[in-house]
Amino acid sequence: MNTRPGTTFAAACVFDAYGTLFDFSGPVARCAASLGGNAGALVALWRDKQLQYTWLRSLQGHYVPFTRVTADALDYALDALGIDDPSLRDELLTLYAVVPAFPDAARALAHLKAAGVRTFILSNGTSAMLESAVRAAGLSPLIDGVLSVEAVGVYKPDPRVYRLAVDAVGATAGRIAFVSANGWDAYAAAAFGLQTFWCNRAGQPSERLPGTPARQILSLDGLPECLGLTNEVPTTAIPEI
Ligand code: LAC
Repeated sequence: MNTRPGTTFAAACVFDAYGTLFDFSGPVARCAASLGGNAGALVALWRDKQLQYTWLRSLQGHYVPFTRVTADALDYALDALGIDDPSLRDELLTLYAVVPAFPDAARALAHLKAAGVRTFILSNGTSAMLESAVRAAGLSPLIDGVLSVEAVGVYKPDPRVYRLAVDAVGATAGRIAFVSANGWDAYAAAAFGLQTFWCNRAGQPSERLPGTPARQILSLDGLPECLGLTNEVPTTAIPEI
């Protein structure tokens, strides 16, 4: 791998999935015609509840797979918005399995792969959900491994989750780059000791939590430079999605 002098060699780059590589607003966007003015509220409430349920269940010691958490959160959100449409509900969950990737995901992954950096996903999602999304987005050739919290039966930001990256990569935490668009996830990974880059897509304020990400970037296009990669990626290495 060609790195700029003075930058830290990353043994691998580990990505969060939802919000970072994959756009969780995609399923609602595909059903926008059925949702009218509720689309934006549904995206926000579904996501907020989904995350809350992961945190609450982890505190309670009541793990269920992310498929169940995602369905429960959707049911809550639809209920809160007064939407009673079982076929729409089923369609949204079906679409979540093929959630679209952000356009910068393939570009960044291709750049890293071309530079010889190993790439992983570390996510709350189940392996089946994540592999389905990776496949649907055409990212399979660009991802070396998918790590799911299923292996530890607890959700982010429990340190056991970030430990999965250390075990899979086989390097010390400080030599592993971790990228998340979820501020709380980036801060927790930094507190654990990973070399963390917060892809702050929405320009959100700093979190008041333990841990400090090494850098903030506005999109994944800023990632290769953070990792000190000097190579230009040939455009032929970027898959069409
Ligand atoms: C994930 C959530 C946090 O993919 O976005 O783990």
